[in-house]
Amino acid sequence: SDHFTFDPGFTSTASCESAITFIDGDEGILLHRGYSIEELSEKSSFMEVSYLLLNGELPSKAQLGDFSQTISRHTMLHEQLATFYRGFRRDAHPMAIMCGVVGALSAFYHDSTDISDPTHRMISSHRLIAKMPTIAAMAYKYSMGQPFLYPDNSLSYTGNFLRMTFGVPAEPYFVNPVIERAMDRIFILHADHEQNASTSTVRLAGSSGANPFACIAAGIACLWGPAHGGANEAALNMLREIGTPDKIPHYIERAKDKNDPFRLMGFGHRVYKNYDPRATVMQKTVREVLTELKVSDPIFDVALQLEEMALNDPYFIEKKLFPNVDFYSGIILSAIGFPTEMFTVLFALSRTVGWVAQWNEMISDPGQKIGRPRQLYTGPQARPYTSFDAR
Ligand code: CMC
Repeated sequence: SDHFTFDPGFTSTASCESAITFIDGDEGILLHRGYSIEELSEKSSFMEVSYLLLNGELPSKAQLGDFSQTISRHTMLHEQLATFYRGFRRDAHPMAIMCGVVGALSAFYHDSTDISDPTHRMISSHRLIAKMPTIAAMAYKYSMGQPFLYPDNSLSYTGNFLRMTFGVPAEPYFVNPVIERAMDRIFILHADHEQNASTSTVRLAGSSGANPFACIAAGIACLWGPAHGGANEAALNMLREIGTPDKIPHYIERAKDKNDPFRLMGFGHRVYKNYDPRATVMQKTVREVLTELKVSDPIFDVALQLEEMALNDPYFIEKKLFPNVDFYSGIILSAIGFPTEMFTVLFALSRTVGWVAQWNEMISDPGQKIGRPRQLYTGPQARPYTSFDAR
């Protein structure tokens, strides 16, 4: 049985063919369907990028209008799901709530089990993309002890999400266009990233024929870990712990110390051995948001100085460790008003489109098989069962 290729962590194994996202980690290039993340994040919108990821081409104006309208028709959650939230403690981590609620959606949409029909698959995909902001906002509202807000389909995808999160029924909520644009850009930056751990999880779960809501719940569970999507929460907590620039060298030394489990959160990447192009856009967006909100967050200074010090340190240079997407995002999200627990939820919200695009691509691949890795067995050889007195 030892003729299998041994590749723990899949550092050199391609698990699938995919036409969705291209990454050149050495050059720091990220393309969705051939379009660079720099251009998409500057010129496009999250709805347009979602259409692109799902359908392969940029939409015409009419196609984008139809797509946005289709998504907005699916924004409501079944009323019964509000009861589901109330089963959680108020201090439940919103990612825990999200895993549960998204998994539970499969109990509401029985047509989603028919995954062989592309129309049904597309309806499930639209439902997931549409309901994620509602689910995320409700998790936040629940933790705050505030009433849930229904979606307002006259607003944009992102504007509606901001209103459901920060609005209250007692007064009108005005979406700040600069914040809406920044939030939308953050969604674009997280929309897809080829075969990362959570996307691979979605594909593996989906390879058995499981329904899409269950598969996305599996992806959310995987994303939660601090080595993956949980890094944005961990990165801001780390920056706050560092607190002032004079403490930075101490944390750099800790990150380099092999006897200390501490790592610089928001630094390093399996694929990027160069600056993560998403981090560049994110850093620019921090400035825009802080300027708009007229706040000066001392943590931003800490982040900038930490980055500079790390990028000039032989350890980080030699290991090619650069800031990743999670390094700066927390500063923006926190300035907008999100508590750190919500950061990974926002990642999940935006990555949902990538997950469903990858899931659809997998199911429609004629060569698709159940994912079933092999192993190198290291346990005992066959041996006879022994009775208690012989042990
Ligand atoms: N701080 C200090 N040292 C690091 C770091 C870091 N953030 N990242 C990697 N290293 C070192 C690591 O100790 C190892 O050293 P050595 O070769 O001496 O043992 C070397 O660099 C290679 O690291 P690795 O863990 O073998 O690399 P990997 O590809 O398995 O891990 C990673 C990639 C992202 C999990 C890792 O860089 C990490 O833990 N970073 C911090 C968490 C983080 O920011 N995650 C977000 C990733 S981007 C968004 C996402 O995908 O969700």
